[in-house]
Amino acid sequence: MRLLAIETSCDETSAAVVDQGRTVRSSVIYSQIPIHELYGGVVPEIASRNHLDKIAQVVDQALLEANTTLQDLDAIAVTYGPGLVGALLVGVNYAKGLAYALNKPLIPVNHIEGHICASLIEHPDLKPPFLCLVVSGGHSHLVVVEDYTAFKVIGQTRDDAIGEAYDKVARTLGLPYPGGPHVDKLAQSGNGAAIHFTRTYLEKDTYDFSFSGIKSGVLNYLNQQRLKGLEVNPADLAASFQEAVLEVLVAKSMLALDDLGYTSLVVAGGVASNSRLRALFNQAMATREAKVYYPSPVLCTDNAAMIGTAGYFKAQDLLARGEDLGLDMALNAYPALRIGEKP
Ligand code: KG4
Ligand code: ZN
Repeated sequence: MRLLAIETSCDETSAAVVDQGRTVRSSVIYSQIPIHELYGGVVPEIASRNHLDKIAQVVDQALLEANTTLQDLDAIAVTYGPGLVGALLVGVNYAKGLAYALNKPLIPVNHIEGHICASLIEHPDLKPPFLCLVVSGGHSHLVVVEDYTAFKVIGQTRDDAIGEAYDKVARTLGLPYPGGPHVDKLAQSGNGAAIHFTRTYLEKDTYDFSFSGIKSGVLNYLNQQRLKGLEVNPADLAASFQEAVLEVLVAKSMLALDDLGYTSLVVAGGVASNSRLRALFNQAMATREAKVYYPSPVLCTDNAAMIGTAGYFKAQDLLARGEDLGLDMALNAYPALRIGEKP
């Protein structure tokens, strides 16, 4: 089954051609980061306009690089939520138009389920059930992946997503958007034990997270230092912030892994490319009889290849249940779509 996948949920316009869910024939990502960098964050209206501007070109490029034609496709997969409504609508409507003109099925895909499936592309040995930690700019979830299309959320953030915390801390340090990779790099030359920030564990035994407190913690520290006329070492601050948030992420993931007994853990989403996160997870996993998987960095941040993978498994599941792959012309964009939800 050959799928064309389209992803426009935030600030990347992306298209990919994926065979049998795991063979990526092409993956084209047009990033709007240089545009939004000017404003210190994603401006939704500008994101929608740029998706509209680039979508046709990105899709054509993906078909060209895959050495395939529209007629060779078996279906079209598209992200329909969660994300920015205007941005999502560009992808959804483009995919709908294409599917209608070609008379091919349209497979709506949940963006977070895409992040989870990204790890299947490069790890053929990885099979459900497994535990997945999704850490991105908009989401922080601990998910039990019972099957390729069966997801159960067991923990999630009660306020900010971890990527959001990274981006906000980066902003206070005067680093460009998106801040995560800059904090990652800066922290490498800092001392993570230099400043103690409170670790937020919430109630004992919950798998939920909270990252809004650390943001105020960092701001308070900066203000206190300034009031006292003391210097701030940005590398120490970046490293100490990372230790505080990553310690909780690792601890909660290990708690879930040990409680539930899964032997595979996947860490996915933009923040999963963080070097300190990988070092800490590798360290914690070394003492367990379980394996940790990460997608390579280009598959951690937003991309259409992962949407092709998730779309393939969704299509296979429908076919296995004797259902037709259809084309729902009324398909809408759902900015707050939840994992496993069918609106
Ligand atoms: O998955 P993603 O591309 O978009 C969403 O679905 O949200 O994630 C983007 C987030 C941004 O907050 C960015 O700062 C963060 O991932 N990020 C990182 C790193 N690379 C990207 N955070 C920490 N360390 C990194 N190396
Ligand atoms: Zn994402």
